[in-house]
Amino acid sequence: MARNKITIVGAGNVGATTAHIAATRQLGDIVLIDIIKGLSEGKAIDIAEAAPVQLYDCNIVGTCNWKETAGSNIVIITSGLPRKPGMSRDDLLAKNAGIVKDVSEKIVKYSPDSIIIVVCNPLDAMAYTASKITGFAKNKVIGMAGALDSARFSCFLAAELGVSVEDVKCVLMGGHGDDMVPLPRLTSVGGIPVTELLDEDKIAELIERTRKGGIEVVNLLGYSAYYAPAAGTVKMAEAILKDKKTVLSCCAYCKNQYDAGGYFIGVPAILGKNGVEKVIELDLNKSERTQFDKSLAHVKQLAAKIDELI
Ligand code: 2OP
Repeated sequence: MARNKITIVGAGNVGATTAHIAATRQLGDIVLIDIIKGLSEGKAIDIAEAAPVQLYDCNIVGTCNWKETAGSNIVIITSGLPRKPGMSRDDLLAKNAGIVKDVSEKIVKYSPDSIIIVVCNPLDAMAYTASKITGFAKNKVIGMAGALDSARFSCFLAAELGVSVEDVKCVLMGGHGDDMVPLPRLTSVGGIPVTELLDEDKIAELIERTRKGGIEVVNLLGYSAYYAPAAGTVKMAEAILKDKKTVLSCCAYCKNQYDAGGYFIGVPAILGKNGVEKVIELDLNKSERTQFDKSLAHVKQLAAKIDELI
C-alpha cells in the first residue's frame, strides 16, 4: 500500500517540529521544503537519523524544489514570518499574505488534490488567503488554531486541578487572537463540567492566560512557540489521513453556519478524509454569541485587507 505523502512548507521551528512529530506518528512520507538552501535538507537528515532510535519508518526529504512535493495528500503551510516580542499576529499580515499566495499557487500546480492545513499567522486571514488563491473546495482548506488554543486551555486546567490532561476536553471558537472564545460551559474534566470544579474567577484567569498563550511564549523565548503548534497540526493531519472523524476546534469555512457569511473562523468541526466533514453548530448563549460576533468582525476586517492586497 502506498504511503501518504505529506508536504510541510517551511523548515523553521514549527515546520521541522511538525515533521518530527508526524514521523514519530508514522503518518506517511514527508517532504520538507524551504527557500533557504540547506535548511530543509539538514533538518530532514537529522529527523531521518533519529528514526532508528525512535523506530519510525518513513522517507523524509528536504528540498527547495517544489517538483518533489508533487502528488501530496496533505500540504501544511508553516512558512511566513513568526512574531517577535511587541508584535501582534496581525502585524504579520502583509508579508505573510504574499508568502501564502506564492505557496498556494505552487500547491495548485503540484498537489491539486491535496488538503491544506494553514499554520502561519494571522491564522484566519491566511486560511482565507490560501482558499482564495487555490480555489480548492472549502472543506479542503483548514487553519490550525483551535487545536493549539484548546491544548493550552486544557494544559492550564489540568495543572490547576491536578488531573491528567487526558481528562480535560474543551471547545474554543472564534479567531486565533486575543478575542478567541473559550466555552467553559462546554469544558469538562472526566465528564464533569469544569464549572462544577473551579470558580468563575479562576476560570476567567485561565481563559485570559489561554488568550495570551502565544505572546507568553514569545516574550520568554524572543520568538514564537512551536512544540504545541506542531502537535496541534499533526493531530489535524492524523485525523484527516486516518479518516478518524475527530471532533476538534479548527479554523473552517463558514457561510450559513453561525451566520458567518463566508469566512474562515474557529469552530468545532469533524475532521476526516475529506478535510472538514462537518461544522458543528452550537446553540450559543447571548454572551458567547456577543464574543463570537466581536471575533468574527475582526476576522472580516483582516479578510478585507487581504482582498485589497491580493
Ligand atoms: C501561537 O499562538 C504561533 O500563533 C501561534 O503560539
